[in-house]
Formats: sequence, structure tokens, C-alpha cells
Amino acid sequence: MKLSSALSFSLLLATAQEAIAFTPSSSLATQKKTQKIPSFSISPLLASSSDVEESTDDRRGFLTKVLGGAAATGIVANGISVQGPSPYMPPVNSLNDKLIVITGGNTGLGLESAKRLATAGATIVLTSRSVEKGERAVQSVKDYVMEQTGQANDNIYTLPLDLCNLESVKSFPEKLKNSPAFQNRQSIDVLMNNAGVMAVPDLQITQDGYEKTFQSNHLGHFALTAGLEPLLNPNGSRVVNVSSMAHLIASKGLDMENLNGEKDYQPWNAYGLSKLENILFTKELQKRADEAGKKITAVALHPGAVRTDLPRYIVGEDKFVSMQDAQPSAADILKLLPAFYFTKSVDRGASTQIYLSAFQGGSEENVKGKFFFNMKDMKLNPAALDMEKAKDLWKVSEDMAGIKFNL
Ligand SMILES: *[C@@H]1O[C@H](CO)[C@@H](O)[C@H](O)[C@H]1NC(C)=O
Ligand SMILES: *[C@@H]1O[C@H](CO)[C@@H](O)[C@H](O)[C@H]1NC(C)=O
Repeated sequence: MKLSSALSFSLLLATAQEAIAFTPSSSLATQKKTQKIPSFSISPLLASSSDVEESTDDRRGFLTKVLGGAAATGIVANGISVQGPSPYMPPVNSLNDKLIVITGGNTGLGLESAKRLATAGATIVLTSRSVEKGERAVQSVKDYVMEQTGQANDNIYTLPLDLCNLESVKSFPEKLKNSPAFQNRQSIDVLMNNAGVMAVPDLQITQDGYEKTFQSNHLGHFALTAGLEPLLNPNGSRVVNVSSMAHLIASKGLDMENLNGEKDYQPWNAYGLSKLENILFTKELQKRADEAGKKITAVALHPGAVRTDLPRYIVGEDKFVSMQDAQPSAADILKLLPAFYFTKSVDRGASTQIYLSAFQGGSEENVKGKFFFNMKDMKLNPAALDMEKAKDLWKVSEDMAGIKFNL
């Protein structure tokens, strides 16, 4: 079961055209700067994988299997050019009158999106669990804009938000309204639901009593979108949801009885399900917004698996942090291999969400309720088109989050 889901995850990434960057040791070396993972060659690691297989530790066993999938896929993917189109850069001054809110904007894809959207002139609010990290991110966005354009964009802000804490989510709209970012613009043009966790190794329950993947990737964003909906620009706005091709792991569809891993918790399944939930919500949100006559365009996307901080969840937070400072062991690298394997660089991986947030992709009619990958709209499988499930999930989510959508 675990093996099959890991394999299908690997394989779907392999078959999704250009989804994977097969990363030979030479290109890993170029990442060293940011990730501080030493370069290595694949074969000795594969040879040593048997050590890990013998471990009785559950997580290890799981990772070994993921790796098995990765290895199988790598053989397929080897030699295929997989980086996707070159990074999308919205033109300077094209977003001067837009306010864009990005969840999880202090790192990875969110930060990259903030930088490029800010370069185009947008006012940015990036959310972060930690004020300090948020402020550091604001500075790095400002520095980037200056470097790119020679001009300052001072309209970059950060506000604290913890999606795994519904109190924090519910108080966010008020905080935004009172922030200087909002005084400039008075309404939100784009909400980018970007923050997320991937394959949390063990079942973890948030203080609100929900499984962590479910809450951070789905329920928290659901409640946030509900809270911010009244602040969306009535003349037209976009809600851009970073989903994933990993929703295909959940191709059997949503099990309404196992939303919080009550019956069974598998890290990649939980991740796949949360990403399926994102798509179902995009569809349901679009349907409701249309019915209410609101000019909201809801769209979901797959960024391509990207080298970001998400791999920390594969090895665990503490381990990940210590690995960045020390020479990781072969076994540790082995665990991270799948994460590096299926990766494109962050600058390319962020392109689709930047593109959609810059109001690209065609007319609003063309973009509504769609799923994009590599800046193109893609067909969805039946599980992601199940509007009955979408409706059920909407209702259940309102109850769980204790909010009511004004749609
Ligand atoms: C994004 O996903 C969240 C959580 O699943 C959902 O509440 C929200 O409506 C979605 N929005 C869009 C545009 O898909
Ligand atoms: C919406 O459009 C109207 C009419 O053009 C304009 O007066 C108003 O300022 C716009 N609102 C926002 C939030 O952009």
C-alpha cells in the first residue's frame, strides 16, 4: 500500500510532461549555496539503500520505499529535459495597482512569487508564522526589486498567520484591514493560497484538533478565503490555489470519513488528498462565486515539485535544520533524494502561480475553475471533477472551521 502510493507518486511525476528535473550530481552542486547539501552521485547511494531497508523504523521504511519509486522514475526520467519553460517575469509596472496576499510568503515558492510580483509593482502582503522571518523576507523582496529595476517598491508588508491555528486565521482579515498595506489599496486583487506542508511523516494533530496536512493545506486556507472574500476587489479578483499533481495519488476520490486520517494515516496519501481538496474547492468556490454574481476567478495549479523547504517534512524539522549545518550522512541524503529528484528550480517552479497572479492565462472565462501546469490549463481526472464531493467538503469544512462563507 505504502509502496504503491509512493510509486504512483513518483511515476505520475515522471509521466507529467516536464514535471521532474532529474538532478545529476553536477546540478546538485549548484544548489549547495542555498540548501547546503553536498553533491553526490546517485549510484553509491542506491547501493547503500539496503542498509536503510533493514531498519525497523517505520518512517525509514517508508522513505526507502519512496526512494525505490524515485529510483525507478529516475531511470525513466534520465535524459529527459524537464525544467519546463523559462521563468515567467511579469513586466515592470504591470501590477502597480494590485494588492496581492501570499500565504507562506517567507520562503520557497511564496517568496519567489513575492519577489517577481513586487518587481512588477504590486503591493505585497506576505504571511509568515514568525514575524521575524516575515520581516527578513520583506527585506529580501525589497532588495530583489532594487537589484532588478534600480527602483524601490516600498509597498511590501508582512503579517503573522498560522494556518494551523484557526484563531490566527480568523483574526487575519482584521489585521489586514488595519495594516498600511490595505490603506494603500482598500481591496485585495489576488489571494495566493500557497503555504503548505508535504507528507508530514507522522499523524500530527493541531491545537484545533485536526490532522496537520488537512488543516494547513486545506481547512486553514478555506477559513482564510472565507474571511478575506468580503475584501476581494468587487471589480475582479483572483484566488490562486497552489495545488499539485499529487492530487492524482487520491484518484480514488475523497473519503469523507478519513479527512483527518481517523481510519488510516499515510503521509503521501494525506498530502495527495489535501491537494485534491484544493481542486475541489477551487471548483466549488467558482461555482458559488458565479452564482452569486461575484467577479472572482478561482484557479488551481501544479507548480512542479520544487526544491523548497518542504523536504524538511520528509526528514523532520529538527533533523532538517541540523542537516543544513552539518555534513549529512549518506542515509540522510538518501531520505531527501526523492525531494531533490523531482525538483525544478524554485525560479521555474514558481512561474505558474506568478503567471496566474499577474492576471495572465487568457480571459477570466478561460481561467475560471481550471487547473494549470507550466502556464497551461490541464485536464483533470474524475476525482477532481466530483462536484458532489466538492459540495460535501465545503459543508463539512464550514462546520469544522466554524465559519460561514458569504457565498
Ligand atoms: C483554495 O483552497 C482552499 C482550501 O482547500 C479553499 O478554501 C479555497 O476556496 C480554494 N480557493 C481556490 C481559488 O481554489
Ligand atoms: C471598481 O470600479 C469602480 C468604477 O470603475 C471604481 O470607482 C472603484 O474604485 C473600483 N474599486 C476598486 C476597489 O478598484
